[in-house]
Amino acid sequence: MSIIRELNNDIKKIVENAGYKVENLILQPSGRRDLGQFQLNDAMNLAKIYKKSPRVIAEDIVKELEKDTRFTNLNIAGPGFINIKLTDEYLGSLLTKIYEDKSLNIDKREKKTVVLDYGGANVAKALHVGHLRSANIGEALKRLARTLGYEVIGDAHLGDYGRPLGLVILEIKKRYPNLAYFDENYTGDYSEVELPVTNKDLEEIYPYASTKSKEDEEYLEEAREITFKVQNHDRGYYDLWKKVVEISKADIKQVYDMLNVDFDLWLGESDAAEYIADLTKIYEEKNVLKESEGALIVEVKEDEDTSPMPPLLFKRSNGTISYETTDLATILQRKEEINPDEIWYCVDARQELHFDQVFRAARKAKLVDDKVNLEFIGFGTMNGTDGKPFKTRDGGVMSLKDLISLVEEETRKRINPDTVEEAKRESVAKTIAIATLKYADLLPFRGTDYIFDPEKFSDLDGKTGPYLLYSTIRMKSLLEKGAHLKIGEITKFKTETEKELSLTILRLPIILDKALDSKSLNDITEYIYKLTSLYNKFYSENKILTEEDEELQKSWLTLTKIVYDINIMLLDMLAIKVPEKM
Ligand code: ARG
Repeated sequence: MSIIRELNNDIKKIVENAGYKVENLILQPSGRRDLGQFQLNDAMNLAKIYKKSPRVIAEDIVKELEKDTRFTNLNIAGPGFINIKLTDEYLGSLLTKIYEDKSLNIDKREKKTVVLDYGGANVAKALHVGHLRSANIGEALKRLARTLGYEVIGDAHLGDYGRPLGLVILEIKKRYPNLAYFDENYTGDYSEVELPVTNKDLEEIYPYASTKSKEDEEYLEEAREITFKVQNHDRGYYDLWKKVVEISKADIKQVYDMLNVDFDLWLGESDAAEYIADLTKIYEEKNVLKESEGALIVEVKEDEDTSPMPPLLFKRSNGTISYETTDLATILQRKEEINPDEIWYCVDARQELHFDQVFRAARKAKLVDDKVNLEFIGFGTMNGTDGKPFKTRDGGVMSLKDLISLVEEETRKRINPDTVEEAKRESVAKTIAIATLKYADLLPFRGTDYIFDPEKFSDLDGKTGPYLLYSTIRMKSLLEKGAHLKIGEITKFKTETEKELSLTILRLPIILDKALDSKSLNDITEYIYKLTSLYNKFYSENKILTEEDEELQKSWLTLTKIVYDINIMLLDMLAIKVPEKM
């Protein structure tokens, strides 16, 4: 158990010894630091239960606390707020324990298996800004949940099955009608057939075909037919599609690599296809499919609904499978192949209705046990400084690669040429650019839209990724310079800043818990900023390496090492890499 939780439990026992039982005692950081470090607000509630004045109860508790030599400066404020301070000796000893064993500053949870569906890149389409958030938030959530003891299986869930594929293949057919893939009489091995199309071509082909399909009904119909053919493994078309997926996947992997995102599973919508037959059988047996104008639907409306809840489209009248049904089949697949306790979906908030429909339809046919939690983790939009979704200069959708380059233009300027040798500057600029993007992206609560300003967020000063990198590198350099000095124990404090820093360190487990409960990283990004700026304040107040009081110097170096280790752990959790120098 973490030190902070143990302290919490100890105080709970002390309150019990004073004669009062509290179900859920929570030691708060005091709002009035001049009065105490922690605050206990339970006397007010206890007053109602025990029918006594809160002041009297607070006095009883303080009497009991006074017997404990770990606490000092006990006082009662207002109607019965108890302020508590830890003695310097005790606070120092707690920090020493954390230095010796980092696991004392984390609360592990009971293990459970979670499938995390994030990424969601679409084959044959360039990753765009919209995919950035799923990658960033999903990856960090995965790492956070693992740190707290869950087994998390990340799945890229590539979009490789819908109409866009039909459009791309149709357009390839128009441009290269003589390819063997379209020759009904071809009997050879398709894996040997060259495809004269690169990923760059695909990125141009899809937008072209998409626009055309909106103007040309016949073209659209042809694309639908091809989608149907691919979904039914029609020879030639199916083989061409597999080739397109392969080309595109290689490029998608490269972009996720840049973002330090790695998936355990690289499955796609199409991998769930083999479950469609079983799925259909389940829905037929459970009698939940309805016919509607030639299509099959599942009614998911409930009496309590206050907003519209359209039925889920299970199978279109033309026989093709919808995005909803693919997600249902994927649930079945995950149950059969992994049998998780929970499935989380880190997807754009605008898809909430889709997931509402899918989850309800899944429950209706009992695709998974009732106790399996299906959770939608929606996120808001990243906007440009004009407040509108991030666009290219000419108003088009910005690809993720272009966005990264754009941020690199800014971060290149932040590199100190005296510290970073020329040959390494490009790669350092990239590392800082990713940190800039990620930190900005994880800073607001995930559900809210936010404005990304490349210049502001790459500033070395302020709540930014580069600030954190720079400060963390400086901590490391200090530790290296002081490697010959004593370290390993905190026995002395000089100023309130160090104590504040120590109390902030102790709060880490609470922050991690809160982040996992809310499935949002904002508490962590705020925390690491707070910890780092407090550290920097402490750093500027003292001359650590030349301090003559050895006890004090040892305490300071130990504190530095603890903060450095936390920063490294949290930055890694956010999938932010720290360069050697910058
Ligand atoms: N490919 C989808 C898109 O770009 C996101 C997939 C999200 N995950 C899911 N299971 N539907 O919109």
